[in-house]
Amino acid sequence: MTDTDIQYAGPQRVLSGVQPSGALHLGNYLGALVKFARLQHEIDTFIFVADMHAITVWQEPAQLAAQTREIAAAYLAAGLDPAKATIFPQSAVPEHAELAWIFNCVARLGWLDKMTQFKEKSGKHKERSSVGLYTYPVLQAADILVYKATAVPVGEDQKQHLELARNIAQKFNHDFAAPGCFPLPEPLIQGPGARIMSLRDGSAKMSKSDPSDLSRINLTDDADTIASKIRKARSDADVLPETMEGLEGRAEARNLVGIYAALAGETSEAVLAKFAGQGFGAFKPELADLAVASLAPVSDAMRRYLADPAEIDRILAAGAAKAREAAAPTVAEAKKLVGFWGT
Ligand code: TYM
Repeated sequence: MTDTDIQYAGPQRVLSGVQPSGALHLGNYLGALVKFARLQHEIDTFIFVADMHAITVWQEPAQLAAQTREIAAAYLAAGLDPAKATIFPQSAVPEHAELAWIFNCVARLGWLDKMTQFKEKSGKHKERSSVGLYTYPVLQAADILVYKATAVPVGEDQKQHLELARNIAQKFNHDFAAPGCFPLPEPLIQGPGARIMSLRDGSAKMSKSDPSDLSRINLTDDADTIASKIRKARSDADVLPETMEGLEGRAEARNLVGIYAALAGETSEAVLAKFAGQGFGAFKPELADLAVASLAPVSDAMRRYLADPAEIDRILAAGAAKAREAAAPTVAEAKKLVGFWGT
């Protein structure tokens, strides 16, 4: 038997997070929050607010704590239950940063050079980006592995970061001759919600940074705004086909069908079976009704939670204490394996 045959044998655990860097949209909700709420009933679940990732680009200090509470309120509104899931701010658990430093010395520059999100976010002026933006995926690996999480529910845009986390886990286990130390975390990306596209351009993902507010549905949009954004969404003049092959080359149509499917908890195939032969004149009002019915209770609940920031702070503080308890033994183990003094 070789080192690599020995595998992580610890418990199954879910971890994920969202950055407090702007209003949450339908992509975040369907690609991440809905999955978190479902998984908490099945596995031990850790969900955090990625405030340390947010500051890789400038965040107004006077607003960061409020933005953090807003993400926590969205978690609760989406159905996360603090009695089931551990909900906390990343910066309140210093073990993330401690393990990230060790991982900075395990990850290779060549691995980070391949990260497409850094290329997109740094744009033309790479040399003016923060160093944090470059090592961002290493901190993400530490977020996951400090809890020895085995499964990470995310949208498709995080797939490359998850591969990097697996590579770091594998290299650490190998370099320090501790083959069972870290699990190789599995991304949970399946389903029609994993890649929600812009309502204005079916080839661009729905994003917080798109200058057009019509491109996305925000979790804070009211019913009229949601319905009007869906009415104005780009589509085409054809009817909906019977099968997914009929959506090839129709990115906007595919996206609207995917949004319906994700909101209804169905497959895109099942949605086509229901609407085949109908045009967008008939489909869009149905989609708007479904979106309003699904999202209005979430934004109402978010407003209710935000009206009591002290309660959110209590939940975050209790979550942080639990998270530190879970993270501390991993950091102690990693430091010992590295050979630090006093470990
Ligand atoms: P963030 O804050 O950009 O997005 C939060 C989650 O929403 C998903 N998402 C989407 N899903 C479907 N369609 C879209 N258009 C869409 N846009 C965003 C993202 O994939 C993500 O799941 N790096 C992460 C935060 C993070 C993290 C982690 C996640 C930090 N450490 C550890 C998991 C594990 C991020 O920037 O997500």
